Amino acid sequence: MSDNHLRLGVNIDHVATVRNARGGSYPDPLRAAKLAEEAGADGITAHLREDRRHISDADIDGLMEVLSVPLNFEMAATPEMQRIALRHKPHAVCIVPEKREERTTEGGLEVAREENKLAHYIAPLREAGCRVSIFIAADQRQIEAAHRIGAEVIELHTGAYCDAQAEGRMDEAARELESLREMSAFAHSLGLEVHAGHGLTYDTVQPVAAFPEVRELNIGHFLIGESIFLGLTPAIAEMRRLMDEARL
Ligand code: PXP
Repeated sequence: MSDNHLRLGVNIDHVATVRNARGGSYPDPLRAAKLAEEAGADGITAHLREDRRHISDADIDGLMEVLSVPLNFEMAATPEMQRIALRHKPHAVCIVPEKREERTTEGGLEVAREENKLAHYIAPLREAGCRVSIFIAADQRQIEAAHRIGAEVIELHTGAYCDAQAEGRMDEAARELESLREMSAFAHSLGLEVHAGHGLTYDTVQPVAAFPEVRELNIGHFLIGESIFLGLTPAIAEMRRLMDEARL
């Protein structure tokens, strides 16, 4: 795979959301993950939330068994999640902030204020061989703190850019995009691998995909929604096409 290849991590959380609406066994997130793999996903992302509102512990067990591509395990920095991650040793763990009352991950992690705590928290995960990624806003202070605590990867939160674009606040979208661009370059200059994600759609993905420092995008909600209309394989293929086109 070329150096310029931008990896696509497909987040399958919301297949589990639909399953859990009825409490049964379908649609099966593992089946979606295998299909996503075949459709060209370079990795699968799943967020085991404290309240288990979508992905379950059994889903994580299953994903670890069936996947041929890396699992990016999203988790809050809690002792329970650390135990689960250390038991499975997924390829990557992405530490995200989590509030019970939020509908989705609303902001980036406050690394600068919790530096010591987080440094201790991620050390065993790194020792276990997991690539540790920290989900943060495009903010220099947070990037510097993520670097200091020993994270290898940062994932930049693209939600503010995507929301502004979707709501027609174009000046704000342009400012958010500029921050993402500057902070991708800054993080890369520190030696951090740069990922990005949250809220990305066919309309918003290309400007972010074009940043040469960004190595991976994690995309879920839009793709799972679009798959209702197109099917999962074509929905992913179109995202892949747009990402590749932006990279040319
Ligand atoms: N990256 C991280 C760290 C996330 O928490 C999420 C949402 O779970 C995503 C990417 C994917 O966001 P979306 O589902 O909006 O594409």
